[in-house]
Amino acid sequence: MSNGPIGVFDSGYGGLTVLKEITQKLPQYDYIYLGDNARAPYGPRSFETVYQYTLQCVEWFFSMGCPLVILACNTASAKALRTIQQNDLPQMGADKRILGVIRPTTEVIGNYTKTNHVGILGTQGTVQSKAYPIEIAKFFPDVAVFQQDCPMWVPLIENNEHLSPGADYFIKKNIQQLLEQSPSIDTILLACTHYPLLLEKLQQYVPVGTTLLSQGEIVANSLGDYLERHPKFSENCTKKGRVSFYTTDSVEDFDQHGAIFYGKPVISTHLEL
Ligand code: DGL
Repeated sequence: MSNGPIGVFDSGYGGLTVLKEITQKLPQYDYIYLGDNARAPYGPRSFETVYQYTLQCVEWFFSMGCPLVILACNTASAKALRTIQQNDLPQMGADKRILGVIRPTTEVIGNYTKTNHVGILGTQGTVQSKAYPIEIAKFFPDVAVFQQDCPMWVPLIENNEHLSPGADYFIKKNIQQLLEQSPSIDTILLACTHYPLLLEKLQQYVPVGTTLLSQGEIVANSLGDYLERHPKFSENCTKKGRVSFYTTDSVEDFDQHGAIFYGKPVISTHLEL
């Protein structure tokens, strides 16, 4: 079994909002983060393309010795995780694991709603995959799920334009489209790891008392449980508290924007895939 850091993957910067919570909860482990910024956003891409890109990145993590990779990207979790787990992982090594962000979230989401009406905001890919309604129905069959895709949000965030006045038009529009589907929605999941950066803006456009749920803490708690339940596995994750960052695009851009998502300085290395 390989010994190495835990891999954390996203199409771009969004997964840094998850890594931030994971490193706070589990600071003893080593982590490698990869943002495939050169090919982001993944949201509008086909199943086949998201699968190919994600698989290529997962193979790279394994070549770096990672025993465990977290897809800290809803789009990749929705469109590529299952196929990689079923078709590719058996050949890549039975000792390796890939986890996504959808399962841990759907396991707990029903605990937050009182009206049993939940809203999901995500990329086109995540919404079209129907991964959330399908998975939530397994854990909380009484919860009604309403979805809205927000195609402009990731490009606005990736370009650091999300706090500009122009961004409000798109944010308000998509929130209204979601709320029009049911006036009883009391819990809205930010089902894209980029969206926590919009939290303050979103609060202005949802009814008072609405719970806006980010995934970072949920995923960090779930990873902590997983490593506790699999002590042999946790032994193979190296523990020196180191975090390294890789991007498939410009390191200057990554370090500048990445720090906003991560909440701390980021120094990245370029990766040519
Ligand atoms: N952060 C990714 C997610 O959670 C999305 C972005 C993209 O469109 O690349 O879905």
